[in-house]
Amino acid sequence: MINLRGLQFEECISEQKLLQAIDRVAAQINTDFAGKEPLFIVVLNGAFKFATELLSRFEGTCEIEFLKLSSYDGTASTGGVITHIPLDVDLEDREVIVVEDIVDSGNTLEKITDMLVSGGVSKFRIASLFFKPGSYTKEYKIHYVGLEIPNDFIVGYGLDYNGLGRNLNAIYKLKTTKMTNLVLFGPPGAGKGTQASFLKEKYNLVHISTGDVFRYNIKNATDLGTLAKSYIDKGQLVPDSVTIDMLSAEVDKTPDANGFIFDGFPRTTAQAEALDALLDNKGTKVAAMIALEVDDEILVKRLLERGKTSGRKDDADESVIRNRIKVYYDETAILKNYYQKQDKYYGVDGVGAIDEITERLSAVIDGL
Ligand code: IMP
Ligand code: MG
Repeated sequence: MINLRGLQFEECISEQKLLQAIDRVAAQINTDFAGKEPLFIVVLNGAFKFATELLSRFEGTCEIEFLKLSSYDGTASTGGVITHIPLDVDLEDREVIVVEDIVDSGNTLEKITDMLVSGGVSKFRIASLFFKPGSYTKEYKIHYVGLEIPNDFIVGYGLDYNGLGRNLNAIYKLKTTKMTNLVLFGPPGAGKGTQASFLKEKYNLVHISTGDVFRYNIKNATDLGTLAKSYIDKGQLVPDSVTIDMLSAEVDKTPDANGFIFDGFPRTTAQAEALDALLDNKGTKVAAMIALEVDDEILVKRLLERGKTSGRKDDADESVIRNRIKVYYDETAILKNYYQKQDKYYGVDGVGAIDEITERLSAVIDGL
């Protein structure tokens, strides 16, 4: 396992397998270009290592030129392709072999193809050490492929993550830890707190209640708590970035957790996206949004009942209760939609005995 800028990568393709793949590609090129004098165009930065091995196996005479392009930012393609070092060679009537590290979306390949065609080459072939058929969106033929790989983000053997990892002699893939991260929703009175505490025990999850996290940070005057308080004191909403930083710190406290139950967050699409980004940075993701569903009239009855014994003022007034329920549905409608689109929304009947409801929730979690 290696760590690059806080992300974990595990070895998935050995150096030996890479060299065998390069042997195969080199043999094909030696056959196809026997007696020719091709021009190899090496696409920097990623292809340097592949190019060195490939060219050391090339049996004829050839020219070698370099082109530097980029289309990646971190672990995500930016879509656009930028030329950092242009080609400095006459392409007219040349036979060209492009040496690429990896073809992913094919955006880079499209740019190179345009360049070669407009340069007037007589023939060109593409040699790529890796090809991700699952994310390829173009039609161009890739003549020589070292290895077809799944859609994982990889580093090593020339490929980088934010500039690091190119020197590694094997290929490593981003480790996605199998965590069960749940976003738990339920209208006031649905029994969310009760169920969260059962699920936490049963699945060994860490319950992150946003309200508790806020209170803890403010009470202990942490930097983020003090910052949050400065907004609250002015009667302003605490910016998402502050809340997310607090949650991130909370998540970091138990890096070995089996997963987290997020309670009271996200409340908006922007927050849901921020949560996705936070978890993505830690190599994990939201597994499900689970919403406890309880009929309004039952909620009102439950809360009024609770108000009689708990003395909580917001549980004593029916119109206040109804408004809290309405606010809940207004807020969650957007999030339900957000998670539904990703097939992650699960509505669970929240009426019945406590253990029955726990059973229903468990059935959802066990099926994830
Ligand atoms: P494309 O333009 O989407 O085909 O991407 C090609 C370029 O994206 C490659 O030359 C790499 O620089 C980069 N890239 C694509 N997938 C990966 C990966 O899994 N790891 C590191 N870089 C990658
Ligand atoms: Mg490349």
